[in-house]
Amino acid sequence: MHSIVVEGLTKYYGDLCAVDHVSFTVDAGEVFGYLGPNGAGKTTTIRMLTGLTRPSEGRAWVAGYDILNETLEVKRRIGVVPEASNLYDELTVWENLEFISRLYHVPRAERHRRIRELLKLFDLWDRRDSRFRRLSRGLKRRAVLAAALINDPEILFLDEPTTGLDVVSARSLRGLVGRLREMGKTIFLTTHYIEEADQLCDRVAIIVRGRIRAIDTPENLKLRAGVKAILEVELSDRPPASLLERLRGLEVEGRQLRVHTDNPQEILRLLTGEIGRSGLRLLSLRSRSPTLEDAFIKLTGLSPEVMRREKGI
Ligand SMILES: Nc1ncnc2c1ncn2[C@@H]1O[C@H](COP(=O)(O)OP(=O)(O)O)[C@@H](O)[C@H]1O
Ligand SMILES: [Mg+2]
Repeated sequence: MHSIVVEGLTKYYGDLCAVDHVSFTVDAGEVFGYLGPNGAGKTTTIRMLTGLTRPSEGRAWVAGYDILNETLEVKRRIGVVPEASNLYDELTVWENLEFISRLYHVPRAERHRRIRELLKLFDLWDRRDSRFRRLSRGLKRRAVLAAALINDPEILFLDEPTTGLDVVSARSLRGLVGRLREMGKTIFLTTHYIEEADQLCDRVAIIVRGRIRAIDTPENLKLRAGVKAILEVELSDRPPASLLERLRGLEVEGRQLRVHTDNPQEILRLLTGEIGRSGLRLLSLRSRSPTLEDAFIKLTGLSPEVMRREKGI
């Protein structure tokens, strides 16, 4: 069963095509990742799927309802965690959740039970009477996530849930995403962290400049890096020209070498021969399988630096 079906969804802002005819489906219970650098069109896609902005072209169904004509039915069945917090600074955590539960017409009898459950699940119970603005970034993000769950949605949209969080808060949030998945929620999440997509997502769409370049499981994407192994070598000095001539496609950074290869045995033999002749020493040698980052580079032609660029820097 598909929770989300997207066909040719497109958004123009003037001449800029922010989202360019994207198509994909998200299965019920799946964590689907939308991975791309800043400005790729991730937030715009979420805004269209959650009824906040109208597509220029294309169609989509969320929880079985048409996002164009059945927006209210869609909104009833989704929770959204936007990039910026949508809670009130001056209200307490409890008051914020109470306010949102009224907006969603959560039945009176259920309201407090639901809020209590969520605050406990998110480890916010002890902070229920703190004003929202007093919370740390990590706790704020958790409170926003709790608020997004108040109507017990089938589908959750998380827009860069861990951006701007410290390592510990980010890890705790990723843990919560795992818990929500176990609870059977369908999760559409955007991120510009390749590691995060790899860890959390059942399938990942790679989006660059509004276009989807690939959609697959992290494992299959890694296979598309196109090589079996990557050898990483550190020498006692810069490699001699003879070595660079013998090994085409060798990446050199100072004393470090990197070779992508389907035949690590053969490369090793060549390397050790050349290194022995040149009088250099081998300081370290490592063979690893391709990572999602290697696949990302191969599939997009972008440097991973592009992904590390945070918004506004
Ligand atoms: N309201 C808007 N008006 C004009 N351009 C916009 C608007 N929102 C986003 N954009 C542009 O659309 C592109 C995609 O933006 P966005 O969806 O926010 O990307 P991401 O979330 O992947 O960082 C960017 O070039 C951005 O500047
Ligand atoms: Mg964004």
